[in-house]
Amino acid sequence: MMNNPAPSSRFIFLTGSTGCLGKELLRRLLASPEVKLGLLIRRKGRHSCWDRARKILAAFELDYLLGTRVEVFDGDITMPDFGLDQEELDFLRRRTDEFYHVAALTALNGSEEDCREINTEGSRRALQMAWDFRNHGRLNRFVYYSTAFVAGSLQTYKALEDSLPEQPAHANFYESSKYQAELLVRQAISAGLPCTIFRPSIVVGNSQTGEVSEFNVIYPFMRLFVHGVLSTLPSRLEHSFNIVPIDYVIEASLAIVRIPQSIGKTFHLVTETPPSVADLFRLRESDYSFVPPVRLVDPDHFRKEGLSADEQLVFEMLQPYLGYLNGELSFDTTNTRNALEGTRITPPKTDQVFLKRLFQYAVETGYLVVK
Ligand SMILES: NC(=O)c1ccc[n+]([C@@H]2O[C@H](COP(=O)([O-])OP(=O)(O)OC[C@H]3O[C@@H](n4cnc5c(N)ncnc54)[C@H](OP(=O)(O)O)[C@@H]3O)[C@@H](O)[C@H]2O)c1
Repeated sequence: MMNNPAPSSRFIFLTGSTGCLGKELLRRLLASPEVKLGLLIRRKGRHSCWDRARKILAAFELDYLLGTRVEVFDGDITMPDFGLDQEELDFLRRRTDEFYHVAALTALNGSEEDCREINTEGSRRALQMAWDFRNHGRLNRFVYYSTAFVAGSLQTYKALEDSLPEQPAHANFYESSKYQAELLVRQAISAGLPCTIFRPSIVVGNSQTGEVSEFNVIYPFMRLFVHGVLSTLPSRLEHSFNIVPIDYVIEASLAIVRIPQSIGKTFHLVTETPPSVADLFRLRESDYSFVPPVRLVDPDHFRKEGLSADEQLVFEMLQPYLGYLNGELSFDTTNTRNALEGTRITPPKTDQVFLKRLFQYAVETGYLVVK
């Protein structure tokens, strides 16, 4: 069942492969013939981890790799040792060259307890396992997916890559739990664990097709406006939102991991030219004029009480998202630009054409209903 690796193979232990980013990572990693994967997947309802892995791989026509290049481990990152038994841990310790910790609770309205248990404590467990694989096995890299908003989407500064501020400005428990998790990874780097940290901004669809497997994070927010549920937004025309195409996040992170000097470093995976609220408004006028108009209210003068009772309820749900329309937070990308210099990977274009592509894909798949 568990074959010996070919001498040149790389075995990667991956958490979060059923999620938006994890699925694409899995597909892209398996495109390299030397890569073998160990997937940590939890069972869900009647579906075992093996059912779930088969379904994801089948969607990419890769299910024939199960048991040869892909092994599946039934586990949950909220459990000690992820719920793995000694035999499984021994197997992973002997085999794992790289450990990609991608799993997280990404709901921006997640509870404090759930976010802490999955994001912070889950990362603590991942790091403990990584130390074990490093000290008693062959691990040479721990790759951690943080977020560009780790210090808080309410910051009003240019975020640096290789540090975290002591005073975060978090808008929700997702951000605070990812901050605590990144602090743990940074401590591990200081203690000598070879880690690389990636901080994507808001991950959206493919740069060429708009395709995305899960409509999460920013998409529910888009839906509220397109469906006319919320007609007022506390923002300014010049405020921007930092989105990044998923293919850029995957290609850039996999290229950077291959560079030895990226050990111990952090990389912002963001757009350097974020679209503005004005760009969104222009797109509505040019292509989606049937979408109800949105009234902008200067955030300094916005009063929730001015909204209708229904809108107030929706607005409360939106509160954790509002930092993502922050006009004063930007991201330094020196490490990323230096690392990608000389590769064919260029900074993502997130212009009007790209925005339109994202909307089109969401409309074509029925996620956004426009009439
Ligand atoms: N998407 C973004 O915009 C974005 C932006 C910046 C950073 N990131 C970071 O990128 C990573 C991936 O994000 P994503 O968008 O792919 O998230 P996602 O679509 O919400 O997927 C989350 C993944 O984590 C797994 N997971 C959650 N709780 C788990 C648990 N207790 N045990 C085992 N697995 C568990 C989920 O498994 P189930 O299928 O079993 O639920 C799923 O595979 C996260 O670390 C996130 O913080 C994402």
